[in-house]
Amino acid sequence: MVDLTLTNLSAAQLAALGDAAFKFGDMGLAQGFYRKLVGAQPRSPSAQARLGLTLRPTSRSRVMLDVLTTLENIPNANPFVGDGIATWLKQPAFLHDPKFMALAAKDLDIAPAGVSNWQWNLQTVLWAAQQARHLDGDFVELGVFRGHTTMFLAEYLEFASWDRKWWLYDTFEGIPADQVDPGWEQVNKNAYNPATFTFEEVRQRFEPFPNIVVTQGRVPEIFAEVCPERISFMHIDLNSATAEVGALDALYERIAPGGIIVFDDFGWQAAHAQFRAELEWFGSRGLAILPLATGQGLFVKPHPRA
Ligand SMILES: C[S@@+](CC[C@H](N)C(=O)[O-])C[C@H]1O[C@@H](n2cnc3c(N)ncnc32)[C@H](O)[C@@H]1O
Repeated sequence: MVDLTLTNLSAAQLAALGDAAFKFGDMGLAQGFYRKLVGAQPRSPSAQARLGLTLRPTSRSRVMLDVLTTLENIPNANPFVGDGIATWLKQPAFLHDPKFMALAAKDLDIAPAGVSNWQWNLQTVLWAAQQARHLDGDFVELGVFRGHTTMFLAEYLEFASWDRKWWLYDTFEGIPADQVDPGWEQVNKNAYNPATFTFEEVRQRFEPFPNIVVTQGRVPEIFAEVCPERISFMHIDLNSATAEVGALDALYERIAPGGIIVFDDFGWQAAHAQFRAELEWFGSRGLAILPLATGQGLFVKPHPRA
């Protein structure tokens, strides 16, 4: 990061200077201008979006900046862009929550590739966990990787003081070969190979939370050995139709009435095998997942009729 001491620049000038540095490829300089911009306008979606794009640049960041600047041509557009989502004429609630914004920026180095300006997605899981707090049952995450989502939630919710458990499951070796959906071979090999993350690393990361249990094992078979009795919130992020449907078969009965499942990948184009399999699983039971514009799928287990 570059330490800038420029004064008397307007927000528009800071944005323009940052954008020029961004397009030139100097992310440190861009970040310097954008930090000043956010300091001046902390609740501006476009200011926060610009800064966020420099915190974890991806191959799509430049296009996201172009989308943002295009949307700024709409009067009072209030635009925000994240990976796979652009909003305008909206009022992103997370911008009014400094704790949320600080934690969302904190652990980006342990997020999967492509996670950029992920606030809309984090807001979904945070809402689900906050609602589930009022139900009986533990929390579960299937597919942990390095722990990004659960760490954000656990820190935000100060979960260490809660009187319930959070069960985290991962092979810590990627998607098992016989569960890889067509087209996911390369992602699995590049992103989730054992050289990029380990069980021990994640176990240590969650040590400050004595009620978070990290288990190494293959879903769904591992549930025969380690399994919560009752579940109120479950985040499913396995990137595999076979594994996710296997988890539903094994755990659905343990979800409390009113319990919430968030599917991380349900609506992403690349996750079409999961999308079809989950539509079929819920549809055959007369149930439905709400597809969200974030790419997530949201399911709330109905209460049985009296
Ligand atoms: C997209 S990553 C999870 C990202 C994580 N939820 C986060 O917020 O950072 C998918 C993970 O699912 C794990 N996985 C895939 N299939 C699995 C299975 N059958 N059993 C256990 N873990 C599995 C992979 O090892 C990988 O770490």
